[in-house]
Amino acid sequence: MNKLTVRDIDVSGKKALVRVDFNVPLNYKTGTITDDSRIRASLPTIDYLVEKGAMIILCSHLGRPAGKPAAEFSLAIVAQHLSQILRQPVGFVNDCIGSEVDNAIANMKNGDILLLENLRFYEEEEKGDDTFAQALSKHGDIFVNDAFGTAHRKHASIVGVTKYIPAVAGMLLEKEINALGKVLTAPPHPFGVLLGGAKVSDKVAMLNNIMGKVDTIVIGGGMAATFLKAQSYEVGASLIDDSLDTASEIIEKTKMNGVKLILPDDMLVTDVINDKGETENVDIAHIPADKHIVDIGPLTITKFTKALEKCRTVFWNGPMGIYEIPQFSEGTKTIARIIANLHGTTIIGGGSTSEIVTEMKLGDKMTFVSTGGGASLKFLSGEALPGVEALLDKGTEVN
Ligand code: 3PG
Repeated sequence: MNKLTVRDIDVSGKKALVRVDFNVPLNYKTGTITDDSRIRASLPTIDYLVEKGAMIILCSHLGRPAGKPAAEFSLAIVAQHLSQILRQPVGFVNDCIGSEVDNAIANMKNGDILLLENLRFYEEEEKGDDTFAQALSKHGDIFVNDAFGTAHRKHASIVGVTKYIPAVAGMLLEKEINALGKVLTAPPHPFGVLLGGAKVSDKVAMLNNIMGKVDTIVIGGGMAATFLKAQSYEVGASLIDDSLDTASEIIEKTKMNGVKLILPDDMLVTDVINDKGETENVDIAHIPADKHIVDIGPLTITKFTKALEKCRTVFWNGPMGIYEIPQFSEGTKTIARIIANLHGTTIIGGGSTSEIVTEMKLGDKMTFVSTGGGASLKFLSGEALPGVEALLDKGTEVN
């Protein structure tokens, strides 16, 4: 990465304003965090700053509270959890700007950690408001961005603050950019991309960007219905997003670029999409008009497995079916286990895919599990991430 990182500057005795992505799934009533991977992923940066004797002021968003405070979006539970895993006190303030925050920071000693309340309790955060960014920047001598998952946003705490204090990358941000960067620049071939999830539109830019680098594209999940429809199959009552023409264009591009496109041969279908829905396995040529596709079938699992086993690099983003409903989740689980046992480089592209891998305790068996859903897709689309662009370039002198 061509940006300064936290290791490139002197942080000792400095107040470090650290933007993390602690947007974790939690149940605020029971006080439980169901997947703390994003918190753990920022521990190297936090540990490093503690060790170097910085004062660490953490800030993050949680969910989408639409610019107003709301108890279910409070980061208080996260402060407690962080304190438990770090085995050190983590202070918490019920605000992210203002006198209460200023007082808490004034009382910090080197090595202390403070977490501020949800940045998105202010609408100014998502609007990238300059006055709000400046107020945040006053908390720190330096700014460390470790929030890879939010690096695709032009928010005040991501881009705005970098105008006011020296801004460098945290270790997680650096690791993500390096790992995903390798997928774009030097993937061991054959390189296969497995995509799922509901919408084709979410993945188009990324598919276009990798078309010249990839050997095989495998498509399952809800978006497979659009690709099947584009090949004139009837897909029953399955949701087709408005990307039918786009799917046809992608099919054409795979042919022009000599990319193997692997689509399902059979699918699980159901009458109703809920936990009472009973499934039936059907060939893609016989999808009943009144049924919804909800998972990939056994023939497809075998077909996908054969294709992925030939690859030396596999990038996976998107579930193979409606994973949240147990009887529609088997295809995704089986594919996750298969990818975990591949011998090549396996990269998991964030969002729900990373959550599934973590929930199945397969994270350690993958080469890299990204903490960013939207951010990793944007990065792989070849687009610059505003949060990364805004950081100081390597070689810049910081006093
Ligand atoms: C994510 O979960 O992808 C990040 O935390 C960004 O969240 P956002 O999509 O609400 O900006």
